[in-house]
Amino acid sequence: MRLETVAVPRPKDGEVVVAVMAAGINYNGVWVCRGEPVSLSRLKTGHDFHITGSDASGIVVDVGRGVARWKPGDEVVLHCNMSCGQCAACNGRDPLACDHQKIWGYEVNYGSFAPYAVVQAQQLLPKPTRLTWEASASYGLCLFTAYRMLFTRGQLQPGEIVLVWGASGGLGVFAIQLALMAGATPVCVVSSPEKAEVCRSLGATLIVDRRHHDLTSHEGRRRFGAAIRDLTGGRDPDLVFEHVGQQTFATSVFVCSKFGRVVICGATTGYDLNFDVRYLWMRQKTIIGSHFANSWDAARANQLVADGRVRPVVSRVFPFEEIPLAQATQASSAHAGKLVALVGAERPGLGARSS
Ligand SMILES: NC(=O)c1ccc[n+]([C@@H]2O[C@H](COP(=O)([O-])OP(=O)(O)OC[C@H]3O[C@@H](n4cnc5c(N)ncnc54)[C@H](OP(=O)(O)O)[C@@H]3O)[C@@H](O)[C@H]2O)c1
Repeated sequence: MRLETVAVPRPKDGEVVVAVMAAGINYNGVWVCRGEPVSLSRLKTGHDFHITGSDASGIVVDVGRGVARWKPGDEVVLHCNMSCGQCAACNGRDPLACDHQKIWGYEVNYGSFAPYAVVQAQQLLPKPTRLTWEASASYGLCLFTAYRMLFTRGQLQPGEIVLVWGASGGLGVFAIQLALMAGATPVCVVSSPEKAEVCRSLGATLIVDRRHHDLTSHEGRRRFGAAIRDLTGGRDPDLVFEHVGQQTFATSVFVCSKFGRVVICGATTGYDLNFDVRYLWMRQKTIIGSHFANSWDAARANQLVADGRVRPVVSRVFPFEEIPLAQATQASSAHAGKLVALVGAERPGLGARSS
């Protein structure tokens, strides 16, 4: 990553330009920097620069033709799903099924690590008024993804047990809150007492430290499953919230309950997965892929934040110039919750209003 000067974008039809106040740091920025699993050069993004960053809070400064719902001065957050808006998938099935679906700030040149961002109007959502710029910028990508994983794709029901890998991380802190809100019980997997404390602070009570388990052997997985049952009164997880991939997937399939679901949206530790498929078919489990969120998922989840039912979890705020350090911190998995960078906001604590 390096600082570059590029022209301020002008909105085309249906687009909006936003003055970015703060930008959330996400794991997709780590993939961009590593050039894995897809190098930016293979994404054929069109310009000779790439502005990373898929979360933002800001103020609308310019709208293109045909934009009726937003005007300059509106305070907004955004979601990062782009689609054509005109095909049958966009207008009846799900924009995630659109042939032109892309993740803004990852698969296109423009993102939120810049003073001005250009987005499709459908990506905008109202900023929760009582939140600061940095809190508002922190949750979009991870909360909206977790919402779709648990509800739209995973069909989570009250009373179910949810195993949450990386429970103190970006996705995990929202999975805990959403599961509790839905009347389900999260079993949180962490790797330190400090991370366990983050989960407790969000209302979780059932916590497993993965460092005490060898997840590479069948016997280790069996013991891990037994540890979960000890916590749940003998029940297996009805839904497993997966994003770690290679190092956990076999365990996820194994410990999932009969007829349960493993919902996966990522593969931090590797995407070639090896697992014993007998536990899948004999016990009639389902593996479900899930990718980000559509506008409906995002709007519903954003409303939960506006209503105070889900809260952002920001552990560190970086100045704009330190975004590369913020991305490296994210890659280390040492952080809790979300990291944020200030862009247009002069200092932390600004942007919150009582009404
Ligand atoms: N498809 C999508 O739309 C989408 C959206 C968001 C994120 N993702 C992907 O999901 C993944 C997680 O994102 P995030 O924002 O939650 O990242 P994060 O904030 O870095 O959290 C990831 C968590 O994974 C856990 N972890 C790391 N290595 C592990 C291992 N070997 N075994 C078990 N747990 C391990 C860590 O928790 P402990 O060390 O405490 O166990 C860490 O807190 C990334 O790969 C990201 O690209 C995909």
